[in-house]
Amino acid sequence: MIQVKDKYFIPFINSDDLSLRVRQLGLKISNDFANENPILLGVLNGSFMFLSDLSKNLTIPAEISFVKIASYSGTVSTGSVKTLMGLDIDLSDRNVIIVEDIVDSGLTIDFLVSMIHKQNPKKVSIATLLLKPEAFKYDFTIDYIGFEIPNKFVVGYGLDYDGWGRNLPEIYQLKN
Ligand code: IMP
Ligand code: MG
Repeated sequence: MIQVKDKYFIPFINSDDLSLRVRQLGLKISNDFANENPILLGVLNGSFMFLSDLSKNLTIPAEISFVKIASYSGTVSTGSVKTLMGLDIDLSDRNVIIVEDIVDSGLTIDFLVSMIHKQNPKKVSIATLLLKPEAFKYDFTIDYIGFEIPNKFVVGYGLDYDGWGRNLPEIYQLKN
C-alpha cells in the first residue's frame, strides 16, 4: 500500500502489464497508420508517460504535440473543461490520434474532438490507456483502449491525485 497526500492506494496494474499492453497498442497503431504520417496529440498533464512509451513503440514516423486541458479537481470531475494550452499546430487534412491517460465521463475527449474538428482534419482517432466504462456517458468510438477498469480512482503512470503520484511507474487504485 502507498500513500499519496491524505489517501491510501493499492497496486492495480504493474509495469510488466503496462509495458506489454502499450507495446501491443503501438504495434496496432503502426499497422493502422502505415504511410499515414499521424500526429499524436497528447492531453497534458496525465498522458505524458503513456505517450512517451507509446511513441517509442511505434514503427512508423509520427509527429508529437500536446494540448493541456483540465476537468478534475481532487478526485472528482468538475463537469466543465478548461483549455490551459491550446492547439499550436495546423491539423487540417491530418490523421490525428488523441492520446489520453484515462477516459472517465468522456467530457474532456468530447470537448477536444470538437476543438480538433474545427481544423478539418482527415481523421480523428482516440487512444486511451484506461477507460472507465461505467462512467462513460457518450457513444463515440474509442479506437485504442489499454485497459477497461472499474469506476474507482487511480493514480500513477501519469495519473495524479491533486497533482501528486504522476511519477509512479505503476498504477494504483484508491483503497476503500
Ligand atoms: P473525463 O472528462 O470525465 O472523461 O475525465 C478525464 C480526465 O479526468 C482525465 O484526463 C484525467 O485527467 C482525469 N481523471 C479521470 N479519472 C481519473 C482517475 O481515476 N485518476 C486520475 N485522474 C482521473
Ligand atoms: Mg488527463
